[in-house]
Amino acid sequence: MTMKHRLPAALLALLLATPLLGPQAHADEASDDIAIANSLAAMLRAGRAVISANQDRINDPALGPKGLDGKTVLSQAVINYRTSTQSDPLATDPASRQGKLLRLEMDAIVSVVDSQQERINQPGVGFKGFIPAVFSRLVGETFTSAAGGSAGMSVTAPANLVRNRRWRPDALESRVISEKFLAPGWHRGQAYTQTTALDAGGKEFRMLMPEYYAASCLTCHGGPKGSIDITGYPREGAAEGDLGGVISIRLSH
Ligand code: HEC
Repeated sequence: MTMKHRLPAALLALLLATPLLGPQAHADEASDDIAIANSLAAMLRAGRAVISANQDRINDPALGPKGLDGKTVLSQAVINYRTSTQSDPLATDPASRQGKLLRLEMDAIVSVVDSQQERINQPGVGFKGFIPAVFSRLVGETFTSAAGGSAGMSVTAPANLVRNRRWRPDALESRVISEKFLAPGWHRGQAYTQTTALDAGGKEFRMLMPEYYAASCLTCHGGPKGSIDITGYPREGAAEGDLGGVISIRLSH
């Protein structure tokens, strides 16, 4: 933006500090929301990948302490995040909305993993039920409650695939799954976003990001359909590349 007339610095500062007004301001706000939601999702994926990479160790009945405490998982998640986003989560301004929310999420990762130490380190037991989906669910819950209404994060799935009934899709998630993500022509991997004005005042931004089954997911989510997997749930009979889940992020203004 170029200024034709020079504004006194104080007035300029006031203008910049004015609550978002014009169309440009709305566009900036929307792109901020998208950037924040993308970074929250990237951190969830970065943390989940650490659990995934350590799954065999977690499941090893011969190992006691795994050295996989909250701080260790977070430091590996930070490395994964840097690789996937080419940016440093620790360098975000702690006073910014993104910096605050990302730090709440990193704190959630640490506290969730620390809270699971007894389970992770239990000797003599193979499969302990601590898997990426459980990690994601707990991080989402912890983050959402810490954010106190300003943000929310969960992982859901198409209704016919949902294992944990608490994570059944809400009305918007169901509609986006059937009308967008499963529709022919939806660009694979593309997220859905919307901002709506709330009756109670304020606005709510939602971002839903589709996730697809990889070959590694099929030991539990693949076939034969209905057979019981290691976690005790019936397999869905899914194929590699099928829509398997949705990361759902909400930001409130
Ligand atoms: C070891 C078996 C196992 C593997 C491997 C596995 N999952 Fe799951 N998945 C589960 C279980 C069990 C749940 C339910 C967790 C809970 O109680 O919240 C679940 C839940 C989910 C959910 C949340 C919605 C729901 O149904 O509750 C999604 C999405 C998901 N899995 C996707 C994947 C994807 C994508 C992969 C591969 C990258 C994968 N899973 C690999 C067992 C597995």
